[in-house]
Amino acid sequence: MTMKALILVGGYGTRLRPLTLSVPKPLVEFCNKPILLHQVEALVKAGVDHVILAVSYMSDLLEREMRIQEQRLGIKISLSHETEPLGTAGPLALAKELLGGDDDEPFFVLNSDVICDFPFTDLLAFHSRHGNEGTIVVTRVEEPSKYGVVIFETDSGRIQRFVEKPQTFVSNKINAGMYIFNTHILKRIQLRPTSIEKEIFPVMAEEGQLYAMELQGFWMDIGQPKDFLTGMCMYLQSLRQHAPDKLRTGPGFLGNVLVDPTAQIGQNCTIGPNVTVGAGVVVEDGVRIKRCTVLKAARIRSHSWLESCIVGWSSCVGQWVRMENVTVLGEDVIVNDELYLNGANVLPHKSISDSVPEPRIIM
Ligand code: GDD
Ligand code: MG
Repeated sequence: MTMKALILVGGYGTRLRPLTLSVPKPLVEFCNKPILLHQVEALVKAGVDHVILAVSYMSDLLEREMRIQEQRLGIKISLSHETEPLGTAGPLALAKELLGGDDDEPFFVLNSDVICDFPFTDLLAFHSRHGNEGTIVVTRVEEPSKYGVVIFETDSGRIQRFVEKPQTFVSNKINAGMYIFNTHILKRIQLRPTSIEKEIFPVMAEEGQLYAMELQGFWMDIGQPKDFLTGMCMYLQSLRQHAPDKLRTGPGFLGNVLVDPTAQIGQNCTIGPNVTVGAGVVVEDGVRIKRCTVLKAARIRSHSWLESCIVGWSSCVGQWVRMENVTVLGEDVIVNDELYLNGANVLPHKSISDSVPEPRIIM
């Protein structure tokens, strides 16, 4: 028996720019591991041995990375290429042969930008118990309007209504972007751009074929910088609970801090709480960093002060710089000494020599 999962890796990831100008969203490192690998590893743990990536852009990089992961994890990874973006349901029709095949096993479907303690084993068990066509994972959020909202019977889990991005308040239980379906769902989906949330789920709900399983613990859609940082805080807290050995402690480290072993941290720095430092990063002396992700091979020069920032791959932040308020540096950005960046969004390969006192995009 093989168990399959399809991950929706299409879309341009525009909300995670400038990072996604260099690397497709699923390969951006979240807490020092590509987002996609957090998901694939959790799927493998639940017994999945064939992962299908539904891709629509920058697939060369993905293809190369996935050949490596196939070997490492001992599973099969297929890429299903779209020539035009097919939305969130169309890709299932395109991958019909791969998903259906000869067997009738249920398969998982995931949005590629969600992070949580993935509940795939429980999801499979729950789905088998109710025996209907689909189950979606739901979670509770403060601001439901930017998600798919779900109304369901709390006892059975049967979904009565599914409303994508409602204008008015419907409920605060939302679609967490993780599903399991029987292959029967493939009969509902045509090979054309289709939204699973707007066109397929409402019908399935009406027919009593769609069920909800509530997620335990944290959840975040990390598809935009502000949420990426919030998700990082949640993930690091979850590491604190489940794998505290992975976190860095000692003088100069505060709260939950994740540091790649190849990173170098100078003297008299204070790092944390809620910081991730990637491979090969150099942090010089006297630096203060809180609530930031510093990606691979970046350099933070001495006496800089960073809060709520993402520093892109191989970027260099000068001496005595102050950066805050969801400033995001793309790949290979240079920030000159003594500047102040407030909510700046800097495109790859730029060199910044003036302060950015108000949030804006620097091209
Ligand atoms: N292959 C492919 N082709 N994938 C796509 C396409 C496409 O044309 N368009 C979007 N995707 C992928 C995205 O990469 C992402 O992984 C997923 O489909 C969902 O798209 P988003 O653009 O991230 O949607 P969203 O965040 O606004 O809303 C979705 O996620 C929420 C949870 O985070 C919906 O599923 C909501 O109902 C849900 O609450
Ligand atoms: Mg999203």
